[in-house]
Amino acid sequence: MVAGSSIGDPATRADYDAVVIGGCGHVGLPLSIALADRGARVAIHDVDEAAVGLVNGGGMPFDEPGALEPLAGALAAGRLRASTDPAVAGLAEIVVVVIGTPIDEHLNPDPHAIPRALGAAAPYFRDGQLLILRSTVYPGVTRLVEQTLADLGLAVDVAFCPERIAEGRAMTELFSLPQIVGARSERVAERAAAFFRRLTDRIVSLSPEEAELAKLFTNTWRYVKFAATNQFYMIANSQGLDYERIRAALVQDYPRAADLPRAGFTAGPCLFKDTMQLAAFNDNQFWLGHAAMLVNEGLPLYVVSQLERRFDLLSMTVGILGMAFKAGSDDIRSSLSYKLRRILSFRARRVLCTDPYATDEPGLLPLDKVLAESDLLVLATPHPEYQGLRVDKPVADVWNALGRGVLV
Ligand SMILES: NC(=O)c1ccc[n+]([C@@H]2O[C@H](COP(=O)([O-])OP(=O)(O)OC[C@H]3O[C@@H](n4cnc5c(N)ncnc54)[C@H](O)[C@@H]3O)[C@@H](O)[C@H]2O)c1
Repeated sequence: MVAGSSIGDPATRADYDAVVIGGCGHVGLPLSIALADRGARVAIHDVDEAAVGLVNGGGMPFDEPGALEPLAGALAAGRLRASTDPAVAGLAEIVVVVIGTPIDEHLNPDPHAIPRALGAAAPYFRDGQLLILRSTVYPGVTRLVEQTLADLGLAVDVAFCPERIAEGRAMTELFSLPQIVGARSERVAERAAAFFRRLTDRIVSLSPEEAELAKLFTNTWRYVKFAATNQFYMIANSQGLDYERIRAALVQDYPRAADLPRAGFTAGPCLFKDTMQLAAFNDNQFWLGHAAMLVNEGLPLYVVSQLERRFDLLSMTVGILGMAFKAGSDDIRSSLSYKLRRILSFRARRVLCTDPYATDEPGLLPLDKVLAESDLLVLATPHPEYQGLRVDKPVADVWNALGRGVLV
């Protein structure tokens, strides 16, 4: 069934420059909007019926600054339509795939996730199309997709062109970041490059295998950097020293340390899982990646254990400020705030949670209520709303969002 659109009408076949499969997601939707904003006619295919309906009505299924206005413009100009019908995959020369690629509960990647997801659309693919893989994939998936299409007797080109935007900055970074194009021949590279020149002139060419690793290295590098600063934080904090004072002093006018980030709860849908994808790809011989995981994922427990030294948590109500995985976002996926809540649920008397963005989440309370009823607060997400917050209760603030230091 086609949701809210005449998109499957054969008469409209020539009307699309690109189809984006997974196009209602955090990456696919900004990309679709950006392409439409630059004049492309874009059809979205997504299995999420509610999101498809929302997008066709001009709504965003999640917060992404700067997206609503060009979405409205693209819809009004007839350059963007979303559909749950996989048949739209046959309606354009370029098909972009940007579905989610999570790891499972045992930290295993699923190299077959993308070939499997393409199953529904495969009957509608046709010779001469270019399939652009944009999800972050387990290395070798591009080759697997090429093989799957060849086994179906399809002459479809395949390129791997990773997305590198950060959520919340998509509508500027899509136009400013260089685009890596991983292709097996110059002809395919040029086809993919021509498509992305709608967004940027800066194209960087690699083979698919190089590009697959380039994307995983990008995210793992960030994850390891955050782990380094989080470990430094724990070392300093365990000595009773305020890490942020030390960090701020050492980065001051010292370019070689300028990229030492603040400590904080490193989470979200990408960095951890991509580090684990890389570890799995290297036969789990990735000590640095696994160590980074232990440090970053261990921070909530460290903070609670530190608090237990100073407070009788079992008799206290603890309030968690911020449930999204990063500041200014409503995205709670893989947020360490939930790990913190789970730990506190059996180590404190009561746990209350609040977030100004993740307002659809069940069980969250207004900030005022959490501030009033808590004996102790943990500032888990440095949302701008919390900056300068005046509270007369102890606060564990690893991020230094309140500017009162990070000692816990
Ligand atoms: N979120 C980020 O900041 C970010 C940045 C760069 C790269 N990535 C990568 O991009 C990919 C997508 O991530 P995301 O955050 O946008 O995920 P998401 O879950 O927000 O979006 C995925 C979309 O795909 C849809 N979908 C799932 N299976 C489908 C199918 N079989 N057919 C059609 N639609 C389907 C879902 O309904 C959803 O709307 C992942 O590989 C991720 O690692 C994410």
